[in-house]
Amino acid sequence: MLLVTGGAGFIGTNFIHSWLRTRDEPILNLDSLTYAGNLENLAALSGDRRYIFAHGDIGDANLVGELLQSYKPRAVLNFAAESHVDRSIAGPESFIQTNVVGTFRLLDCVRAYWGGMDGGRRESFRFLHVSTDEVYGSLGSDDPAFTEANAYCPNSPYAASKASSDHLVRAYRHTYGLPVVTTNCSNNYGPYQFPEKLIPLLVHNALTGKALPIYGDGQNVRDWLYVEDHCTAIQRVLEEGTIGDTYNIGGGNEKTNLEVAQTLCAILDEIRPHAQGKSYREQIVFVADRPGHDRRYAIDASKIAAELGWRPAESFESGIRKTVLWYVENSAWVSGVTSGAYRQWIRQQYGVAL
Ligand code: NAD
Ligand code: DAU
Repeated sequence: MLLVTGGAGFIGTNFIHSWLRTRDEPILNLDSLTYAGNLENLAALSGDRRYIFAHGDIGDANLVGELLQSYKPRAVLNFAAESHVDRSIAGPESFIQTNVVGTFRLLDCVRAYWGGMDGGRRESFRFLHVSTDEVYGSLGSDDPAFTEANAYCPNSPYAASKASSDHLVRAYRHTYGLPVVTTNCSNNYGPYQFPEKLIPLLVHNALTGKALPIYGDGQNVRDWLYVEDHCTAIQRVLEEGTIGDTYNIGGGNEKTNLEVAQTLCAILDEIRPHAQGKSYREQIVFVADRPGHDRRYAIDASKIAAELGWRPAESFESGIRKTVLWYVENSAWVSGVTSGAYRQWIRQQYGVAL
């Protein structure tokens, strides 16, 4: 069995579905169900004996210790985190609590569990830590893409908390010999992403006649990866990644935020044309920039390609079309998550304009 943390969030949900589509090995999902966690995402698995849900915090050492002893997973995959940069700017504390303290407690429980294992099971055990390219900081327009050798240079409280967690994971390998691997991935997009992040926020706002807010001049660049490709990369790293190594994962799809917004509008113009014949582009507005906004991220994924044979299957053009269609076809899911608490965040972040 695998223990997946944060499996009710965006990437964890996609990972669980992806894993159970092709394998019989069960998954235990430990999730504290913050605003970003949604059990509806996994409703299709109710009654499936390969899927077990445990409600709780990765920082709850008693609970984590009990789960490890009861279920005896062969690997722990840590997706659980506070993940939204803007929320980390508005209130960093929960990021330190979950991403730093929570990861530390989880690691420490796993160390005790792994220390008590014997023989082959101890040899094959893995702790896979899911991290981000934001730990490397920001690139200039002509800089080469981030490799695994780049120095850490985190700029937001979110990025700093993830960098801290990466360092703890590394230290548990170096000091205690815990068999860890870390992945540092670029921006994901796809089904089940909470509509506080750029792509689902823009699709939701476009369809509900609201403004499409673009920070600053819209020229910040992100390297987009379809979430299913992230999931297959994690599977490859779990299967064959070198213990103690880190692997960069990215889609090779650098786009400015304005390009992303314009692409989404073009797809919506085609599949959901406005009654009056106008373009969704007319809803784009430039708003105040994010404080400390990183200008550009780009991932050099040549290590995982060369060593583990992983490459993304989806192009940006195919992935973004699938994604927009998913949000259009799953308006009930979007309505379910854009509840009172969501509206409160949108008011706090963007003011009354949205
Ligand atoms: P998300 O915010 O959608 O989901 C996070 C999940 O973790 C939620 O289900 C939440 O309930 C759960 N959680 C939060 N705190 C917890 C705690 N203390 N104990 C147990 N569960 C807790 O995040 P995501 O976008 O799915 O990201 C998953 C991981 O991937 C994160 O570690 C993030 O840093 C990393 N990552 C995300 C991206 C991206 O573009 N979204 C890119 C690279 C890396
Ligand atoms: O790079 C990986 C990271 O990608 C992950 O580690 C994070 O968990 C994930 O949230 C994401 O961080 P970003 O800050 O890049 O994602 P976000 O969707 O918040 O923003 C993408 C870009 O769009 C960024 O340059 C800010 C901009 N933006 C975002 C929002 C929400 C806007 O212009 N307008 C917006 O309303």
